[in-house]
Amino acid sequence: MPEIQDKMEKLISLCKRRGYIFQSSEIYGGINSCYDYGPLGTELKRNLKNFWWKAMTRERDDIEGLDSSILMHPRIWEASGHVKNFTDPLIDCKKCKSRFKATDITEKKCPKCGGELTESRLFNLMFKTFMGPVEDSANIIYLRPETAQGIYVNFLNVQNSARRKIPFGIAQIGKAFRNEITPGNFTYRTREFEQMEMQYFVKPGTDMDVFNKWKEIRLNWHKSIGIKKENLRFHEHGPNELAHYAKCAFDIEYQFPFGWCEIEGIHNRTDFDLKAHMEFSGKKLSYFDEESKERFTPYIIETSVGCDRTLLVLLVDSYDEEGERVVLRLAPKLAPVKIAVFPLINKPELIETAQKLYADLRVDYNSFYDQSGAIGRRYRRQDEIGTPFCITVDNDTMAGETITIRERDSMKQDRIEISKVREYISKFF
Ligand code: GAP
Repeated sequence: MPEIQDKMEKLISLCKRRGYIFQSSEIYGGINSCYDYGPLGTELKRNLKNFWWKAMTRERDDIEGLDSSILMHPRIWEASGHVKNFTDPLIDCKKCKSRFKATDITEKKCPKCGGELTESRLFNLMFKTFMGPVEDSANIIYLRPETAQGIYVNFLNVQNSARRKIPFGIAQIGKAFRNEITPGNFTYRTREFEQMEMQYFVKPGTDMDVFNKWKEIRLNWHKSIGIKKENLRFHEHGPNELAHYAKCAFDIEYQFPFGWCEIEGIHNRTDFDLKAHMEFSGKKLSYFDEESKERFTPYIIETSVGCDRTLLVLLVDSYDEEGERVVLRLAPKLAPVKIAVFPLINKPELIETAQKLYADLRVDYNSFYDQSGAIGRRYRRQDEIGTPFCITVDNDTMAGETITIRERDSMKQDRIEISKVREYISKFF
């Protein structure tokens, strides 16, 4: 247990110290379960989203993109079942006022103070607010708890405008909000987070085949971002775990220091959502198949992964210590800083050449320039944030237009011509 806490504490401290992740509203004492991404975290998140987007849209010819609004018609959440079913059973302590998920409580007394507990009651996880100036029940509106519904209600808009035939998918990245009872484990469970979701529309009867294909595609994607395969596994939902919309569901789980936990859900949502929206909106969302001359309501296979959770996985999985050296072994294509450029010593001609190289590289690769301190310390600082390459300009550079390039994981150094730097690094990104 201390070891587990140790690793998470070290990581959280690194995140703050080096500008990956900060507690939100820190100068006001912080706000529970909300986080801000600093310069490095922002860059890493952007790289992660771009990587997902490329894999899910650009590299395929059957998926379109969408960016739907966070605030939507409140009837959408009645149709989707979230108003009725998106609840957790909640128990309060009458004495210390702590709140617990009923499923986490095994004894009759409060685990914190031993006080008396209330009966369990259902608590809806959606955040509510009001649309317009009048705060009455007619104006209640919800912050979306998943991005998926924005895709379902736009199914026909996308299908018609993009002239798509089934099967095809719609992908979206965006914020979601859940008033979680027990947020925690740093950014693992928060009340505001980003999802990267894809909904694949298929002919009923083909759904389980497509579902099984997506399971494998998604597991492979996690491996492709550098996550160690021994830390990934599937977990099949039993009948008591299935969400109200799902016929079959598998989670992809990651082995965090605090245990195996879900990072992505792959769901066979059947025609539940489209049928519900047809019923509640009175609009037809079925599909006419020109070839078979059949009309049907498509089934939906969903892949839904948390962006913040995956980012946490990347940090946990890549964190390593080698004696005094702390290294984030992030895959180069995701690392926030790709290249650091250093003049070995404070000599004007070395500085000038290093700055020129830095100015040239940073246009295409997020780069960092540093001329202060011992070279060993400069390398360590880059290892700690996961920079895959450090380039050093030294006296030999002046003699022969060459630099040394050091690779983070092996610490191996190659001497190459300045004109070959781009060619050398391009194969890693
Ligand atoms: N549209 C389906 C859906 O939302 P989910 O299993 O509830 O399914 C999908 O959520 C993913 O969203 C999760 O696997 C997780 O990565 C992320 N997620 C859900 N709740 C979260 C929270 N409170 N904090 C951070 N990420 C969360």
